[in-house]
Amino acid sequence: MAKYVLENCFAVLAFLLAMKTKARTTTMSGEVIRCKAAVAREAGKPLVIEEVEVAPPQKMEVRLKILFTSLCHTDVYFWEAKGQNPLFPRILGHEAGGIVESVGEGVTELKPGDKVLPVFTGECGECRHCKSEDSNMCDLLRINTDRGVMINDGKTRFSKDGQPIYHFLGTSTFSEYTVVHSGCVAKINPDAPLDKVCVLSCGISTGMGATLNVAKPKKGMSVAIFGLGAVGLAAAEGARIAGASRIIGIDLNASRANEAKKFGVTEFVNPKDHDKPIQEVIAAMTDGGVDRSVECTGNVKAMISAFECVHDGWGVAVLVGVPNKDDEFKTLPINFLNERTLKGTFFGNYKPRTDIPGVVEKYMKKELEVEKFITHHVGFSEINKAFDYMLKGESLRCIIQMDA
Ligand SMILES: NC(=O)c1ccc[n+]([C@@H]2O[C@H](COP(=O)([O-])OP(=O)(O)OC[C@H]3O[C@@H](n4cnc5c(N)ncnc54)[C@H](O)[C@@H]3O)[C@@H](O)[C@H]2O)c1
Ligand SMILES: *[C@@H]1O[C@H](CO)[C@@H](O)[C@H](O)[C@H]1NC(C)=O
Ligand SMILES: [Zn+2]
Ligand SMILES: [Zn+2]
Repeated sequence: MAKYVLENCFAVLAFLLAMKTKARTTTMSGEVIRCKAAVAREAGKPLVIEEVEVAPPQKMEVRLKILFTSLCHTDVYFWEAKGQNPLFPRILGHEAGGIVESVGEGVTELKPGDKVLPVFTGECGECRHCKSEDSNMCDLLRINTDRGVMINDGKTRFSKDGQPIYHFLGTSTFSEYTVVHSGCVAKINPDAPLDKVCVLSCGISTGMGATLNVAKPKKGMSVAIFGLGAVGLAAAEGARIAGASRIIGIDLNASRANEAKKFGVTEFVNPKDHDKPIQEVIAAMTDGGVDRSVECTGNVKAMISAFECVHDGWGVAVLVGVPNKDDEFKTLPINFLNERTLKGTFFGNYKPRTDIPGVVEKYMKKELEVEKFITHHVGFSEINKAFDYMLKGESLRCIIQMDA
C-alpha cells in the first residue's frame, strides 16, 4: 500500500514537472524545440541571435541543452571562410558543456539529465579505428569540416521558417539546444562544473594530448611549442607534466611571453626578433635541435619550422594547427632521412567517449588546472565579443554563458 501511494506521488510530481516545463518552453522529448541560436549567415559578418527550430533527435542521436560554450580558433576560420570552404547559414561552435535533453532511437548509453561534453570527432566503438588502441579517427564519426548535415538522413536538425540551417563539426554549440550523434558525446562526472570543464571538449584536451599522447617527450627532454594560444599553452602544460627540462615557446606576439610562464614555458622566442629562419635560431639554442616540437598556430610556415627544428636522429614534430585547405607542406626529403619524424593529430589522439571522462577526472582531482586558460566571460547575447577578443589576440578562452 505504502509503495502504491509513493508511486502515485511520483507520477503526480512527474506530471506537474512536465506541465511546468511545457509551459515555459517546449522541451518535451519528441517535439520540436524553439530556442535561441547564434547563426552565422555570411562569412565574416557578426553572428545573429535568432529563434530557430531544433528537431527531435533521430536514430543514435541525442538532443543537448548547452549551458556553456567557448570559442576556439577553428570556429573563427570557418566563420571567416577565407582559407576554408564557405557553408552558410551555419551554427558554429564545438567547445561546450551541456545536459542531455532527450535521446533518439537506439541510444542506450545516455539518458536525459546526463552531464556531457560534445566533441567534434566521434567514437562509434565498432570500427577498426575505434578498436585500435592507436587511433581516434573513427570511420563513421571522424571530423568532417565540410559536412553541414546529420549522417542519419543527410538533413539538418536546425531550421528557421522551414529553411535549413547547417551544422558545424557535428556539434553546433552556439545554440541553446543542439542535436549531436551519441558517439560524439562524452558522459562526464555529474559534479564537474561545466563553466570550467567545457574547455576540455576541444582546445585544452587537444594541446595536452598532442604532447602527452603523440609527441611523448621523455623526462628531461626539450620541447618547442609554436603558437601560445590556449591549445599551445595546453601543449606546454603537457610538456611540464611529462617532465620536460626546457619548454621553448614561439609566438609572433611578444606579450604572450609573460602569460606563457604560468604554463611552464621556460624560454620565449619571437620570430620577429630574428633575421634567420626560426628553425635555425632554435637549433642554435639547443645544440642541433629540440627533442620534440608541437605546432599550434595553423600557419603552414610555422608547421615547416616546427618540423625542421627537431634534432636529427630522434626528433619528433607534431602538427595540431588547422591549415588553410590549399596549404602545402614543403621540406627536403633529407630531413626525414636524417631520422626526424613528423606526425599530426586531431583532438590530441583522445577517444572522446573512452578518454575524456578521465581528463575531466584529472581536473576534479586538481592534477590539471583549467581556470588559467579562461581569460574572459560573456553572455550569449554578446557572443560576437568573444570573436573580437580572439581576433585581437586578447583571449585564451572566453566562456559564453547560454542563459545570460
Ligand atoms: N588538431 C586539432 O584537433 C585541433 C583542435 C583545436 C584547435 N586546433 C587548431 O589549433 C590552433 C590553435 O588554436 P587556438 O584556439 O589556441 O588559437 P589562438 O589564436 O588562441 O592561438 C594561436 C597563437 O599562434 C600564434 N601564431 C600565429 N601564427 C604564428 C607563427 N607563424 N609563428 C608563431 N606563432 C604564431 C598567435 O600569435 C597566437 O598566439 C588553430 O589552428 C586551431 O584551429 C586544432
Ligand atoms: C598580444 O597578446 C596580448 C596578451 O595576450 C594581447 O592583449 C594583445 O591583444 C595581442 N596582440 C595581438 C596583435 O595579437
Ligand atoms: Zn577547437
Ligand atoms: Zn568508430
